[in-house]
Amino acid sequence: MESLRLRVWGPKMSDEIDALRKTIISCTICELSKSRTNAVPGSGSIKTKVVFIGEAPGRTEDLQGAPFVGTAGKILSDALAYAGFTRDDVYITNIVKCRPPDNRRPNKQEMNSCRNYMQKELEIIQPKIVCILGNTAFGSLLNGNAITKNRGKIIKRNGQLYFVTVHPAAIIYNQDLRQVLKDDLKALSDIIDKLQKGIPVETNE
Ligand code: URA
Repeated sequence: MESLRLRVWGPKMSDEIDALRKTIISCTICELSKSRTNAVPGSGSIKTKVVFIGEAPGRTEDLQGAPFVGTAGKILSDALAYAGFTRDDVYITNIVKCRPPDNRRPNKQEMNSCRNYMQKELEIIQPKIVCILGNTAFGSLLNGNAITKNRGKIIKRNGQLYFVTVHPAAIIYNQDLRQVLKDDLKALSDIIDKLQKGIPVETNE
């Protein structure tokens, strides 16, 4: 069971996120920095209740320096709108901030090199819930797998709530998942409403 957590928003948060963005944009810790066009820090509202975490930037994101702005991004935006969110209401980021060549999955070392950036984003924003998009983020954040079996669940780990759903890009290959993502995000919106009102929600450890 989980109820309301208090958080005070202040100007310091925007200074912190700006500083983090600058660090990410100039990062050269791993090899992906050599092949990228732009590093892609998270974007959106830092006053949000929910942070969405995907895998890694794709081609369009690499060119524009912003997360989820290509085909998968359009699918995500549609599902967000269906659930009553706008992109400006939420914060969207990735496990890895630079595009892996040929859109391959980021490897363990790349994920570990980027881990501090995502942790810092969460530390600054302190969302009520983190929405994990797909297996790579599920594995990296919670050591999870089998997204289709676990999607729609709320998981509590180290005091943080997570909600698991499919990756928007999976819909490009399986159209049946389009409604699954929409319904999951609607369920997420209802969960956030409950948390806001202090109504407990069922969690899995
Ligand atoms: N896929 C992701 O996981 N992240 C993006 O930003 C774009 C596509």
